[in-house]
Amino acid sequence: MKKAQASVFNHQYKKEKKDDFTPFEIYLKHSNAMEISSKRLRKILLELKGDPLKILDVGSNDGSFLIKSLPKGKKVEIIFLEPSKNPFEKLVKNTKQNKEWKCINQTFEDFYQNSKEKYDVVLASHLYHFPRKKYQELLSQLASLLKDSGTLIWIERGIDDITDLKRRFLRILLPSLYPQDWVPRNYKRALEILKEKEGNTELVLNNSVLRFPSVSKSNDAIVIVEFFFSIEWGSMPKSIQEEILEYLDERNGVLQQEEGIIIHKKSNGE
Ligand SMILES: C[S@@+](CC[C@H](N)C(=O)[O-])C[C@H]1O[C@@H](n2cnc3c(N)ncnc32)[C@H](O)[C@@H]1O
Repeated sequence: MKKAQASVFNHQYKKEKKDDFTPFEIYLKHSNAMEISSKRLRKILLELKGDPLKILDVGSNDGSFLIKSLPKGKKVEIIFLEPSKNPFEKLVKNTKQNKEWKCINQTFEDFYQNSKEKYDVVLASHLYHFPRKKYQELLSQLASLLKDSGTLIWIERGIDDITDLKRRFLRILLPSLYPQDWVPRNYKRALEILKEKEGNTELVLNNSVLRFPSVSKSNDAIVIVEFFFSIEWGSMPKSIQEEILEYLDERNGVLQQEEGIIIHKKSNGE
């Protein structure tokens, strides 16, 4: 049997020449997750005090998630923090029209060493590069950057149909990385840690839908599977490829997604 390869391109699926979308952007074309998430974040930001509202966005990527989520008419001052070169270049382009926004090309760890400022909001959304065993330290450092009236917003996936898809096939494709007792990343660990801290912690759940397009029409379904698995489609055994397509077919290509937004206010009174 052919052995599956964890993708060296990691989300860099080679696209058909005519388009220029990244795998993440292709996923977004078929899911309403970002839309639902930004709508919810906008509502949360709207209710927070601060004039201007001073925000630190950790791991901003190209900044589009936070920019899309800003409430109209609210004055905001933002520090975007992004260590990777390509997204940072896009971030600089996406933010150049606003003098109140600053982009820093650093990891959070480096930024934290020299940071003296405090923020009304620290946003940490989908930071999948930090291992779960570092969450305690990371969350304490993030919370320490808040003003006394500040709010930490942590966003992470829940356990949903995508988890089921991964659980079923990754334990066959990459058994050493995904053992039988594999527990996927989800917001529950961060929630546990933040609930133990002083202050007020609340969880809001977002439900969204991912609709896989038909494979007969485009490559997009395959790009999305690669995006979630970080495995090249061509390196998977044919029988597994067929099983994955059957799995999607049985569900009419529709998978439910869940995301948790944890809102941690540093002081109880706010
Ligand atoms: C999955 S993206 C999330 C982007 C955005 N926050 C969102 O929710 O749409 C994670 C981002 O974190 C960045 N990142 C990776 N390691 C980091 C670190 N040590 N400190 C800060 N950001 C990091 C990555 O480069 C990537 O752009």
